[in-house]
Amino acid sequence: MKSAPILITPSILSADFGRLQEEVDSVEPHADWLQCDVMDGHFVPNISFGAPVVRAIKTKLPLDIHLMVSNPADRIDEFLTLKVAHITFHAEAVPKTADRLALIARIRKGGATAGIAINPDTPLDAASDVLSDIDLLLVMSVHPGFGGQKFISDVLEKVRQAHRAHPGLMIQMDGGVDEKTAPQCIAAGANNLVAGSAIFRAKNREAVIASLRQR
Ligand code: DX5
Repeated sequence: MKSAPILITPSILSADFGRLQEEVDSVEPHADWLQCDVMDGHFVPNISFGAPVVRAIKTKLPLDIHLMVSNPADRIDEFLTLKVAHITFHAEAVPKTADRLALIARIRKGGATAGIAINPDTPLDAASDVLSDIDLLLVMSVHPGFGGQKFISDVLEKVRQAHRAHPGLMIQMDGGVDEKTAPQCIAAGANNLVAGSAIFRAKNREAVIASLRQR
């Protein structure tokens, strides 16, 4: 079976917010998606930005909204209004299956694809109730809240498990993904790699993005 293409998703959390549009322009020709890390200072110990900043971004790239918030149901509509391509919420923030399914349905009805994220300490089982209902599983390889952290390689086993059980499911990895760790993510079954500091700290972003795609 032909393997799915590897998508590279720069995370703007590590971009220079004082020149955000320029930063987005610098990756747009080379990347596949653009991830916006929305943090509420409650679900994660950092506050980043919300819909007003996402509204200001002009790009052809599909916008991937990663909701690191305690009440994702309250945030969905403002991003759907912006016609974002994808919204991911955290399993830890929505424990009940019925609530997860309702969120997934609302996201899809609003024209976006839906993803669920699990933190490094959260077992894959914690999201198994909806793995057949979602468009993307985000396996965090850092504890969410900040860019530039060290890759937690223990999570690769969860990626392998998920890929074995759901070979057609898009698996995204996020946190500490760079030219060294990307091949491990791809080998485990991930096909959408989020990278913040590896890309935005680099001068030659085209080269870094190309290197992250190498199998
Ligand atoms: C962390 C964010 C990640 C982070 C990735 O909470 O969800 O997207 O920005 O940054 P790097 O690639 O630098 O680990």
